[in-house]
Amino acid sequence: MKVVVTGASGGIGKAVAQLFLGKGHSVIGIDCRESAITVDPSYSHIVADISKAESLPEIEGVEVLINCAGVQGSADDIDVNLKGTINVTEKYAFQECIKSVLTVASASAHTGAEFPAYSASKGGLLAYTRNVALRLAKYGATCNSISPGGVRTALNDPVMNDPALWSQIMDVTPLKEWAEPEEIAQWCWFLTTVNRSCTGEDILIDNGETHLNATFVWP
Ligand SMILES: NC(=O)c1ccc[n+]([C@@H]2O[C@H](COP(=O)([O-])OP(=O)(O)OC[C@H]3O[C@@H](n4cnc5c(N)ncnc54)[C@H](O)[C@@H]3O)[C@@H](O)[C@H]2O)c1
Repeated sequence: MKVVVTGASGGIGKAVAQLFLGKGHSVIGIDCRESAITVDPSYSHIVADISKAESLPEIEGVEVLINCAGVQGSADDIDVNLKGTINVTEKYAFQECIKSVLTVASASAHTGAEFPAYSASKGGLLAYTRNVALRLAKYGATCNSISPGGVRTALNDPVMNDPALWSQIMDVTPLKEWAEPEEIAQWCWFLTTVNRSCTGEDILIDNGETHLNATFVWP
């Protein structure tokens, strides 16, 4: 299959690209940074800023699109995470051969926690995912999002490298761990290739942080 992965030079995007490459697919990575994947004949890399629609080249025959590119706590959170994902999806998803689109949102889309524009950008992606799912159904294609909680990538170095902050986070994380990017890649793989019946949905992958912190107060 021909698979396009945005954010392929980052933690999650690179893991996704490598998983698909390992399974024999042809992967095109899009990132504003240079390729992080060493020479692989099945991998090609495009340096582009997804927030600038005009910087995205034509790509024919896209079968799977995985939106991973994102920023956090910057002045560009809405432009990159929301508008950039819309740019990419409108450009590449609506082709006869499309089978699936998957967008990496965030648990903050559900909780509203984290940086204001970041949460808003990720919340917008959940509604946009459903909109795309409606429009892609005529191709027999699925469109879903996933909402990770903490994932062990460079994005989170400020808290992962601070023992006091890390301990604070683990106190409210029932499974006492964060996901590795390789696990998130497996979710992307399953939802875009094995899955045929789930569409327009979002799956929270957060080690129980969002829904398992309810308290039960009783005399
Ligand atoms: N790491 C986490 O804990 C976590 C949790 C929830 C959601 N997410 C989401 O997962 C996605 C990937 O996160 P990550 O942890 O791998 O981050 P990362 O910073 O390691 O990777 C993000 C990648 O996106 C690229 N990018 C940024 N702006 C771009 C632009 N304008 N055009 C093209 N490429 C651009 C970066 O160069 C980078 O390679 C992001 O959308 C992030 O919001 C991450």
